[in-house]
Amino acid sequence: LGSVVLLWLFILLLFFFIRVRRPKNFPPGPRPLPILGNLLQLDPVNPLKDLEGRRYGNVFSLYIGSRPAVVLNGLEVVREALVTRAAEYAGRPTHMMVSHLFKGKGIVMANYGSSWRDHRRFALTTLRNFGLGKRSMEERILEEVSHICTELESSSGGSMDPQHLFHLAASNIICSLIFGERFEYDDQVILTLIQRLEEFTKEALGPWAMLYEIIPVLRPLPLPFRNVFHKFDKMKEHIKKVVTKHKHSRVAGEPRDLLDCYLDQIDKTADGGSTFNDAQMVSLLLDLFIAGTDTTSNTLRSAMLYLMTNQHVQDRCHREIAEVLEGRADASFEDRHAMPYVQATIHEAQRMSDTVPLSVFHTTCSNTQINSYQLPQGTVVIPNLSSVLHEEGQWKFPHEFNPENFLNEVGEFVKPEAFLPFSAGSRVCLGEGLARMELFLVLVTLLRRYRFVWPEDGGVPDFSLIFGGTQSPKPYRLGVRLRTYAGHFYIKLFLKASK
Ligand code: HEM
Repeated sequence: LGSVVLLWLFILLLFFFIRVRRPKNFPPGPRPLPILGNLLQLDPVNPLKDLEGRRYGNVFSLYIGSRPAVVLNGLEVVREALVTRAAEYAGRPTHMMVSHLFKGKGIVMANYGSSWRDHRRFALTTLRNFGLGKRSMEERILEEVSHICTELESSSGGSMDPQHLFHLAASNIICSLIFGERFEYDDQVILTLIQRLEEFTKEALGPWAMLYEIIPVLRPLPLPFRNVFHKFDKMKEHIKKVVTKHKHSRVAGEPRDLLDCYLDQIDKTADGGSTFNDAQMVSLLLDLFIAGTDTTSNTLRSAMLYLMTNQHVQDRCHREIAEVLEGRADASFEDRHAMPYVQATIHEAQRMSDTVPLSVFHTTCSNTQINSYQLPQGTVVIPNLSSVLHEEGQWKFPHEFNPENFLNEVGEFVKPEAFLPFSAGSRVCLGEGLARMELFLVLVTLLRRYRFVWPEDGGVPDFSLIFGGTQSPKPYRLGVRLRTYAGHFYIKLFLKASK
């Protein structure tokens, strides 16, 4: 054992004497430590504040271990990289822990190539209703909204922590689309999957995972970062069980959900040369489940926080909603065109919620440039979406919650170019359409029926965000009040209609 330890120490020392070399004409940045790079110099609680580029400009470099990465700040450079030079910046890292977990399969971590393209196209067309069986995306979302309403009914007049409810609701909407079923809010199957996802995310962002990222020589060792792989395998096992159940109950050519559509696709392309297969399917399902849960539920929680603490905004939304939906049981996504103020409020809540601040990391697919700098192929690129969402000069009120950011002089809804919470270009969020529909239908239905108030014993509202890959607001309690007799009437009508 002693000689093994000595050998490792020797290797580590050797690495310490290797100087980190910056490629020629590479963007400037803080001096990296040998082996460790710059990661340990970042604030672990809020790394975003160190990535603002005040010191090095809107394009600067930092080292993840001994590998260089480039941070892009502000609309101009983010757009140049992701939109103008989309194909050159559309890769994903292949050397990080998350790359090793997904092994390049599925969509989110798949490299730019035919498998990614086939799966992205398949998922987009399937979600846009070309194969979700009898029930559209909108109907499935409205069904979940009715369950949220029922749940909130029991807190009416009091307060509740909305974290669990919104998380389960977002996860149910994705489950309904991909697995054809939603789960009761106390169902053990879904609670276990969510718990696994939470544990996995926590470990994947923990100190051992960081060590895995920055010291590649440690990777083969049986250190605690193996837990992340173990947890990931457990989630995959869970998905595989659902797949097996589906295979037994499906009728080919009559899809009930995205999983059935995928199985049909495998049948259609069984004669070889296709990128569709069982392993890809499991990764795709896991991708959609992971990407579609935290993101939407954190945004909803932020939106509620801002609405509760801005009663005048909430009341104006309520008036607009009541007017447009008068006499009808449900809202529809089409109604957004008649609700400029509500649209502005939801977009503003999304801007302030800043849910995926550093996007998903990209890599350069060929040697390329940005401003006057050269980036070699394979450079990790970090688009700082947060910097764009709060960029001075792009917004009337960059640092405060104000729906006026999305309204013109005559009160029409306008979307500034710097509204990039879903990123941009060829890797733009695949779930953007779904997420926008969810946010609209959930918030419009809830604001129509309830007034949300900051509870008297809620302390001082805290708008700071917790960073953990995605950002989320700190836990808070949501005060729920049913609006007027008309509110009662509509809720009954609504719950009856959705049975
Ligand atoms: C990718 C944001 C909801 C599925 C992304 C990216 C961002 C993002 C910033 C990275 C884009 C890039 O690499 O440049 C959000 C936000 C959401 C949301 C803010 C909610 C408010 C969803 C939902 C789904 C989803 C509901 C499920 C269908 C995906 C997938 C990708 C992705 C599959 C990878 C796309 C690719 O690599 O080609 N999302 N997302 N997202 N998102 Fe979302």
